Amino acid sequence: MDKSKVTIPGLLKMKAEGRQKIRMVTAYDYPMAVLIDQTDIEMIFVGDSLGMVVLGHEGTVPVTMEDMIHHSRAVARGARKTFLVVDMPFGSYHLSIEQAVGNAVRLMKECSADCVKIEGGVDFAPTVRAIVKAGIPVMGHIGLTPQTASALGGFKVQGKNLESAAQIYRDALALEEAGAFSIVMEAVPAPLAKIITEKLRIPTIGIGAGVDCDGQVLVLYDLLGLFDRFVPKFVKRYARLDQEVKNALTTYATEVADGTFPGPEHSFSGKEDELRRYLGLEQG
Ligand code: KIV
Repeated sequence: MDKSKVTIPGLLKMKAEGRQKIRMVTAYDYPMAVLIDQTDIEMIFVGDSLGMVVLGHEGTVPVTMEDMIHHSRAVARGARKTFLVVDMPFGSYHLSIEQAVGNAVRLMKECSADCVKIEGGVDFAPTVRAIVKAGIPVMGHIGLTPQTASALGGFKVQGKNLESAAQIYRDALALEEAGAFSIVMEAVPAPLAKIITEKLRIPTIGIGAGVDCDGQVLVLYDLLGLFDRFVPKFVKRYARLDQEVKNALTTYATEVADGTFPGPEHSFSGKEDELRRYLGLEQG
């Protein structure tokens, strides 16, 4: 497959032309990044969902800058053509604008990121503006923002009533105005996402936001059927790798137990008699 490096002008052109949806998926390690890089998927996203799906935390709040950097560096080594988005974890941009810019710079320098992503709307527009001013592209994230899920009353659909829908609309406008080059919209009613998508010049990437967004994102382990704790309504499982993995492990365990693995084809041959003589051992 001939994939040329995905760029921000390329993504903006996709929005402007409206012929082809943008595809984004999360990844947290090198082997998955290599596989994604071999597909047509435009954006690979090291989300702080890694806290839940890879590190086993209950939510994304415990994820640290060091976690993000460790995983993003591995993904960057595999994602050569795919546009690399790296999440700013909770607490890494909340204390001050200086802190936000400093941590965004770190993610760009240490992870070879193409952009950073931060959660929040109107309240975070000044932060977005400052990071963009430092020369770092920013992807916004509105609607259900998992880092503040407890303040939102849990992992729930946002913008269901007119007042909260209007707030999400204002959030989207504020982020575009602050210089974000794209916005993730999570768990919002499809008509609201459609209206926002039509209004913005920058691409919207939906997750649980209906089909009218300019692109879609899914958590890789949800898509592959590798996350067992819960499956949100908006997830489609394109594979059941959990079952494949369990079958493979069970067969491995059985074959080790009954001695059918490793067979001669997985072993290195040698001369046992000669070796025993050399070692002064009894012939077997
Ligand atoms: O961290 C993540 O995976 C995300 C997606 C749900 C968009 O923010």
